[in-house]
Amino acid sequence: MRLADKVAIITGAGSGIGRATSALLAREGAMVVAVDINKSQVDDTAQEILSAGGACVSAYCDVTNADDIQRVVDLTLKRYQKIDVLFNNAGMPMSFTPTEEVSLELWQAIMAVNVTGIFLGCRAVIPIMKSQRSGVILNTASTAAVRPRPGLTPYNASKGAVTVFTRSLALELAPYGIRVNAVNPVAVDTPMLNQFIGANRTGDPAQGRQQFEQSIPLGRLATPMDIAFAVLYLASEEAAMVTGVCLDVAGGRTI
Ligand SMILES: NC(=O)c1ccc[n+]([C@@H]2O[C@H](COP(=O)([O-])OP(=O)(O)OC[C@H]3O[C@@H](n4cnc5c(N)ncnc54)[C@H](O)[C@@H]3O)[C@@H](O)[C@H]2O)c1
Repeated sequence: MRLADKVAIITGAGSGIGRATSALLAREGAMVVAVDINKSQVDDTAQEILSAGGACVSAYCDVTNADDIQRVVDLTLKRYQKIDVLFNNAGMPMSFTPTEEVSLELWQAIMAVNVTGIFLGCRAVIPIMKSQRSGVILNTASTAAVRPRPGLTPYNASKGAVTVFTRSLALELAPYGIRVNAVNPVAVDTPMLNQFIGANRTGDPAQGRQQFEQSIPLGRLATPMDIAFAVLYLASEEAAMVTGVCLDVAGGRTI
């Protein structure tokens, strides 16, 4: 097992990439603390893992709320006495909107979940990882940071912030033996995709999906497991020399 006895906190674990990654990391021996703003969905994630013989506890957490995050950290330390991996994965999408029509509320909500949420998660675990002199922080950015699509400028900008945050924090924490990396998924077949699929000028979902598929050289959308395997690698000792990387899992879309 590639993550035997490791303790991993995963945000946005109630659905999509977070759920698939929770299941995979648990299969590889990790004790998973699965958190999400959607409590019933993240409870389902935990139940699936427990039924498969893995270790998982679920909790409510709004990543934009520092108190919620602290509660998750406290719960994890009480139960497992350490934090090996933090996967900041929760995110908020948007539909196609010309920038001049974007409300301040939408802009602030996207930045709060996609950027502030990651900052708060990192801020809470860094002192623990520094005292351990080990740890892995992983963030879900996006190909939107590398090759943005039009009409999604606030989302694209938020993911750009995630990549610079990742690279900067990797330098800051390297002396403490803490690695910081990100994954850049291309369009992934999750509930979130429905918002992006509507994110073309016509608003036709079937056409939107086809446009996304055609824009990916490998000819298909990513699956949640495609991303989960990249996260598993980055979380494992196999990536011991890898830090500050924002790994495109993109089927060639960013070339
Ligand atoms: N699906 C895609 O095409 C795609 C592409 C690139 C990047 N991403 C990124 O991948 C990540 C996961 O998205 P997904 O595709 O699995 O979507 P998803 O909708 O399946 O899952 C997102 C999860 O995040 C949770 N969440 C939302 N706001 C939260 C908050 N404030 N606090 C805690 N949890 C919250 C949701 O409840 C949901 O369970 C996001 O960061 C997203 O931006 C997705």
